[in-house]
Amino acid sequence: MAFPAGFGWGAATAAYQVEGGWDADGRGPCVWDTFTHQGGERVFKNQTGDVACGSYTLWEEDLKCIKQLGLTHYRFSISWSRLLPDGTTGFINQKGIDYYNKIIDDLLMNGVTPVVTLHHFDLPQALEDKGGWLSDTIIEVFDKYAQFCFSTFGDRVRQWITINEPNVLCAMGYDLGHLAPGVPHIGTGGYQAAHNMIKAHARAWHSYDSLFREEQKGMVSLSLFCIWPEPANPNSELDQKAAERAINFQFDFFAKPIFIDGDYPALVKSQIASMSAKQGYPSSRLSEFTEEEKKMIKGTADFFAVQYYTTRFIRHKENKEAELGILQDAEIEAFPDPSWKGVGWVYTVPWGIRKLLKYIKDAYNNPVIYITENGFPQSDPPAIDDTERWECFRQTFQELFKAIHVDKVNLQLYCAWSLLDNFEWNSGYSQRFGLFHVDFEDAARPRVPYTSAKEYAKIILNNGLER
Ligand code: NOJ
Repeated sequence: MAFPAGFGWGAATAAYQVEGGWDADGRGPCVWDTFTHQGGERVFKNQTGDVACGSYTLWEEDLKCIKQLGLTHYRFSISWSRLLPDGTTGFINQKGIDYYNKIIDDLLMNGVTPVVTLHHFDLPQALEDKGGWLSDTIIEVFDKYAQFCFSTFGDRVRQWITINEPNVLCAMGYDLGHLAPGVPHIGTGGYQAAHNMIKAHARAWHSYDSLFREEQKGMVSLSLFCIWPEPANPNSELDQKAAERAINFQFDFFAKPIFIDGDYPALVKSQIASMSAKQGYPSSRLSEFTEEEKKMIKGTADFFAVQYYTTRFIRHKENKEAELGILQDAEIEAFPDPSWKGVGWVYTVPWGIRKLLKYIKDAYNNPVIYITENGFPQSDPPAIDDTERWECFRQTFQELFKAIHVDKVNLQLYCAWSLLDNFEWNSGYSQRFGLFHVDFEDAARPRVPYTSAKEYAKIILNNGLER
């Protein structure tokens, strides 16, 4: 099963989840520092990312892992508050610039292409204090930060992700309050944050396009999470419609404005408007983009970045309310098949990724697609010989092969989540997604390859799999 020549094989991490050094060398606090330090059992055993994998001081160890795998791409995120401690360009932390310069230079020296995320859940606390993603003042501040990164690192970085999983951050962070900043605004916060994130992304894309693209020749997109919604009964029109709503609300909500026409899906708009009216709101809880904004938002991505972990069956259900969310959509019930195995919310369903890729191809005009995350957790304590988990990866690669060769999907990059076991947000260190084991009890944070790492290295070396 040979993959196309030049196919990218990567692994991903995110700053707060691996770096540690939370107050080192002038880094400003981010919302996850505040959230974890508040305690209150919102994170498994009140664990924090204060030290995490120690990647801030142990980058060389991460580089060894990257080289051992033979990755062609490494996706990491910049800690906004390490670079700009209060979030603005008013004060720049040179130590932060030095850290990311070293990562980028070391990667390039080793023939590894950096894929850089600007914002992966860790908003500077100083900006949260001014309203965070709920305030539209963030749009310009984000644009300035993005421009700062393009001008500082863009001579060497060609692949940018502006915002990681805005759909998850809005639903889980700003609406439900499960993720930092942890303040629920049920029914309103997610929509408000989404509106600002879409505009902030679009503004940053335009800045790249007009100020940097000619010289740097890079690409800018944002990464969207999607649980594949499969109709529980494929012959039921109601279930099919419910599955459609499920992907509209969690995924197309962001993808359609950016990739198609600058506006939210019609069904999403009408459902939220009618729910809002019933609930007595003076207008829809989802704001409208102006015509000018629609023009500004439309077409602001140079590739399609998607993050897939799992699938759910979707069944129609009467009298549930329409909401933005990860399968909290109107009139649906989302559930796993009892035969699926998995850990936590990640039931392993390799065929889901192929269906999702085909959906993106058909709905979004056959774009270049990057899978910027995909992976499978092990619970703690994990098996170093994780042959069983490797089987999930292997079957996933078989599905990708079919997507490329049978469905003719233009997939060009796959990034495994994650290079290392790391801080898995509310689950702390209890869910281990790493290709490398990290011992969080040992101050030296030794990295040890799982069987999956060794097998993945073979796939990369052969640019494909045997069967
Ligand atoms: C997606 C998020 O981007 C990442 O931060 C997280 O660790 C993985 N999903 C696994 O849940």
